[in-house]
Amino acid sequence: MAKKRENEAAMPRHIAIIMDGNGRWAKKRLLPRTAGHAAGAETFRRIALYCREIGVKYLTVYAFSTENWKRPQEEVSKIMGLMKDYLLESIRDMQKNHVRIEFFGDLTALSPELQDLAAEARKESEVFTDSQVNMCINYGSRDEMLRAARAWAKRCAETGEDPESLTEETFSSLLYSADVPDPDLIIRPGGELRISNFLLWQAAYAELYFTDVLWPDFDERELDRAVAAYQARNRRFGGI
Ligand code: IPE
Ligand code: IPE
Ligand code: MG
Repeated sequence: MAKKRENEAAMPRHIAIIMDGNGRWAKKRLLPRTAGHAAGAETFRRIALYCREIGVKYLTVYAFSTENWKRPQEEVSKIMGLMKDYLLESIRDMQKNHVRIEFFGDLTALSPELQDLAAEARKESEVFTDSQVNMCINYGSRDEMLRAARAWAKRCAETGEDPESLTEETFSSLLYSADVPDPDLIIRPGGELRISNFLLWQAAYAELYFTDVLWPDFDERELDRAVAAYQARNRRFGGI
């Protein structure tokens, strides 16, 4: 297990994960892609619990991007169904797990049922402060930044605030991630070496970790490896 007590200071406070590789995992097993998503949902449950166990305060997971609507309707429905199962289950387990759930993304594109479940999960868990999971659904970083820019423009027009007075702090506060510190470590399983429109603003000084392990195969040991790699890095934030 990643060392919590001995090395508390070096534990990332916020880990973000691009949960990629479900389709290829299924293909390797001659299963439909949707079976890969089911396996990936299981991995998410395990890793979320593990992160809480080792003292990671924030976990942000990329579950569905603004670009993923391009996929076949059948695959999109299956993914939405898995989200529904997860939300139902987490609402049930909330009291036990004491994890706060937040959502990054435009949820208005989801079914009314999913939107209600998300609102309920958020409401039921808002009292918990020890650990937080941010689920990115219909999330795209460019979309998020455009919304923030529009909100700022609107605010200036309505209040007469000077557009030039915009600071990094204010801009951050207009993003879905307002109130959440920037990720320390971003993990991408699945072998691709790209960010795919994930947390572009927030990732400014994140440490990046890529692995070929496909998300459904990603386990506690893999997370320990990523954390160990993170702990061995020297973060300078532009300094020396
Ligand atoms: C990630 O796995 C899940 C989503 C993007 C919803 P993929 O479905 O992208 O899996 P690969 O990349 O095709 O293997
Ligand atoms: C990124 O994976 C999005 C999620 C994991 C939700 P993709 O599979 O959509 O990314 P690309 O298409 O390979 O860049
Ligand atoms: Mg993919």
